[in-house]
Amino acid sequence: MARIYNFSAGPSTMPEAVLLKAQQEMLDWQGSGMSVMEMSHRGKHFMAIAEAMKNDLIELLAIPANYKVLFLQGGATAQFAMIPQNILNGKTSACYVNTGAWSTSAIKEAGKYCQVKTVASSEDSKFTAIPAVEQWLIDPDAAYLHYTSNETIHGVEFNDVPAVGELPLVCDMSSNILSRPVDVSRYGIIYAGTQKNMGPSGVTVVIVRDDLVGLAPKSVPSVFNYEQQAKSDSMLNTPATYNWYLLGLVLQWLKGEGGVAAIEQRNIHKANKLYQAIDQSSLYSNPVSKDCRSRMNIPFVLADASLDKEFLSLAAQNGLTTLAGHRSVGGMRASIYNAMPEAGVDALIAFMAEFERTH
Ligand SMILES: Cc1ncc(COP(=O)(O)O)c(C=O)c1O
Repeated sequence: MARIYNFSAGPSTMPEAVLLKAQQEMLDWQGSGMSVMEMSHRGKHFMAIAEAMKNDLIELLAIPANYKVLFLQGGATAQFAMIPQNILNGKTSACYVNTGAWSTSAIKEAGKYCQVKTVASSEDSKFTAIPAVEQWLIDPDAAYLHYTSNETIHGVEFNDVPAVGELPLVCDMSSNILSRPVDVSRYGIIYAGTQKNMGPSGVTVVIVRDDLVGLAPKSVPSVFNYEQQAKSDSMLNTPATYNWYLLGLVLQWLKGEGGVAAIEQRNIHKANKLYQAIDQSSLYSNPVSKDCRSRMNIPFVLADASLDKEFLSLAAQNGLTTLAGHRSVGGMRASIYNAMPEAGVDALIAFMAEFERTH
């Protein structure tokens, strides 16, 4: 069966080379006589896989030595709770920027643990813009400042790291990690689920600066405690071994493609093409302010919403799937992460033009 172009927001399309390599190694990983999923996580084979995977991530993101890199479970959603549980450090409030659905979820969860100060929000514009950082009402006494670098549902992305003074900067990078270079040293914590740019779902990468490790009160469960996870190399409980392996294969693939700087150029090119096609058409439109349009998730609506169903059904017939917008916003959304080939974007643009011509 031919492979389709899958525009899913996550879990999302994987590099084909990674799937083929996993297939090839499925029954016998490099002469071990075992599948990776059958290996003990403490055995020498898996330890080698884990170490290479971690080192590749450190290399790709140029993570400085004063950061711990953890591979946890529970998704970014678990981090919404783990962050306040681990780094409030006796303080009673934390600052949050609300730029869309995922920031809103993070705020709601943090509210169980501390007073959330929403320092800026673009809710009034239906999350189509990012409030200027100069206008954020930052409280210097808060424990940290949290923001979402790419809003997967609303298609809004930060192009710069916000300057927030002394507060530890905490970022949900779930949907744009590894899509562009990032200066890790500007952050207290970066976290991301793997199911967009890093592999299948099941692993959460947490990059946490040393001074924020070891601050959790004793009541925090061990698996949710950054210090305990760091001390046990993220193996406090049995890790999602096969997913670590697939994450490692994706990182090797990305290195082979030239790394993060090279993939950024491709991502810019792919996104520009699609935005241009949308902006030039009279049927499609994207509501997001041009200075913060996401390169990863591109929402668009049809001028006549009664055509939505037919658009999706014809697209699927043409091998272009999972283009429906999130149920909370409707319309369409094309997620074009690192692994989406340019040919997939070209096929979508050609289909959209033909659909417009015939409708
Ligand atoms: C930006 C962002 N944050 C958080 C999440 C939640 O991630 P998870 O389902 O891994 O908990 C998602 C999922 O799509 C996301 O896109």
